[in-house]
Amino acid sequence: MQINKLTPSFAAEIVGADVAALTDADFAAIMEAFLAYQVIVIRGQSLAPAEQKDFSRRFGELDFHISSKNKHKDHPELLILSNKKINGEWVGATAAGDEWHTDTQYTPVPSKCTMLHALEVPEEGGETAFINTYAAFEDLDEATRDRIADLRSINSWNRLKNPRVKVPEQHGDGKSTYDIGHPDVVHPIVRTHPETGRKALYVSPRHTLFVDGMDEDKSEELLQELFAAQQRPDHIYVHKWRLGDIVIWDNRCTLHKGMGGIKPPGIRHLHRTLMQGSVPV
Ligand code: SIN
Repeated sequence: MQINKLTPSFAAEIVGADVAALTDADFAAIMEAFLAYQVIVIRGQSLAPAEQKDFSRRFGELDFHISSKNKHKDHPELLILSNKKINGEWVGATAAGDEWHTDTQYTPVPSKCTMLHALEVPEEGGETAFINTYAAFEDLDEATRDRIADLRSINSWNRLKNPRVKVPEQHGDGKSTYDIGHPDVVHPIVRTHPETGRKALYVSPRHTLFVDGMDEDKSEELLQELFAAQQRPDHIYVHKWRLGDIVIWDNRCTLHKGMGGIKPPGIRHLHRTLMQGSVPV
C-alpha cells in the first residue's frame, strides 16, 4: 500500500489496497492517513453494497440520512447519487450536495465521515471539491480568530430558509424534501476535532443560516467573510473521479460540494455511506 499526497495542505491517495481483505495493520495505516489528510482516495476497488457497509463500519456505526428519498432498495443505509434514469425515473439524487457543506451539520450529532464509491464515472465533469477547514481556521488573522472563538451558528436542512441556495430541479418546489419540520440546530463556529485536537472553521453556505444572537446583516457579513476564507484556492482539492475510487472524508474538518457539469451522455453513479459522529464542541 502506498500513500501519495494530493495537495500540499491535505488529501491523499492510497494505491495498492484491497479494502475487502485488509489486515488490521493496513486498516490502521488507512485510519492514520484519514486523520492526517482529512480526505483519502482509495483507488481501484469494486465493492458490492454489503461490502461497502462492512468497510464503512470500520470507521464507525452507520448513520441514516433524514430524507427517505434515493436510498438503495435493499440497503437503506446506502444513498445513491446518480444522473441515470431508468424508465423515465431518476435512480438516485442528481444534485445531493451542489453547495459547499459538511454532511448532516443540520443534526445535533453530525456524521463523522462519509464514503463515496464510484461505480460509473463520466469522461467529463462530475468532480467533487473539498475544503480544508483546519487550514481555513489557522489562516485567519488573530483578531478574527478571537472574535469567533465563542460564537455559535444556527444550521438547517431546509433549503427554503436559506436564500444562498437553490432547490435542485429534481425536487420541484422543494417542500416535500426540505420543508419537513426538521428542527434547526446550534453548533460552535470553531470546532475542535475530537481525535486530533485541531480547530476547524465549522460553518457552511448550504447549512449555516445565522450567527446565533447576532443582527441579521452583521451575521451575513461575518459569515460571508468566513466562507471566503474557507474558499481560498489553496484550501481546495478537486477530485476527478476514476472508476472504482473510494473517497472518504472527515466531516469534522472539511467541506465539500459536487461540481456538476457532467457532459452527456456521461453517467456518474456513486454509492454513499455516512458514519456516526459526536456532538461538536
Ligand atoms: C455529497 O455531498 O455527499 C456528494 C457530493 C457529490 O455529489 O460529489
